[in-house]
Amino acid sequence: MHRRLLAFALLVLTSGVSDRVSAASTDADFAVIQKVLQHPRCQNCHIPGDQPLQYDEGRPHAQYVQRGVDGKGALGMACTTCHGSANLPASYGAHVPPGAPNWHLPPADKKMVFIGLGTHDLCTRLKDQKGNNGKDLPALLEHVDHDALVLWGWNPGQGRAPVSIPHAEFVAAFKRWADAGGPCPG
Ligand code: HEC
Ligand code: HEC
Repeated sequence: MHRRLLAFALLVLTSGVSDRVSAASTDADFAVIQKVLQHPRCQNCHIPGDQPLQYDEGRPHAQYVQRGVDGKGALGMACTTCHGSANLPASYGAHVPPGAPNWHLPPADKKMVFIGLGTHDLCTRLKDQKGNNGKDLPALLEHVDHDALVLWGWNPGQGRAPVSIPHAEFVAAFKRWADAGGPCPG
């Protein structure tokens, strides 16, 4: 009897410990995700305003470039007028428009903001299917693994620093977090 009680107590104790350990590790995974989403290469497009940002310090985009309703630019100032489907060759030098297929911002009615949010708000915002075109966790994982605008963050063209965490490390952390049900820290 005593032994069974002891075993039961041990079970309760250790499962409590492993819950805390797994919460700590998914929090660490979300910290990696946050660092990427709020890297300048990502957050310069994921903004609450209507003018995309440029450079590591997030200056408003030159030439009064605007989001437009669909995210593809104002009338007569489409993003794709300047941004092609790939970066230009290095021989063009720095300060040329970077390129990736379908270069644009999220639409005005679903801005998908990352910039300036605390950990908990960023996490709930990321998962909010009303604000992310109905993407559940597997769809989000697929997006961060293969989307062309995401991948551009690791190949941003001359004169721009790539995202500081390797893409494979980001995707692995994202997968562990998604597999754990996408818990929001805090
Ligand atoms: C040129 C602008 C641009 C850049 C740069 C960009 N994104 Fe996005 N992002 C978008 C657009 C537009 C959408 C919406 C497209 C869609 O739903 O298919 C989007 C959607 C997303 C989504 C899904 C929606 C959501 O709110 O969760 C994630 C996640 C995401 N981006 C992550 C990133 C990451 C990570 C980077 C940097 C490595 C990045 N993005 C860089 C424009 C950009
Ligand atoms: C008139 C040409 C032009 C138009 C139109 C334009 N861009 Fe740009 N964009 C540029 C140039 C040039 C750069 C690079 C500036 C540099 O590196 O000095 C740039 C850089 C950027 C960057 C900076 C990337 C970074 O992380 O530093 C983002 C984001 C961006 N553009 C988004 C957009 C979006 C979204 C649209 C449409 C809503 C758009 N641009 C329309 C010319 C343009």
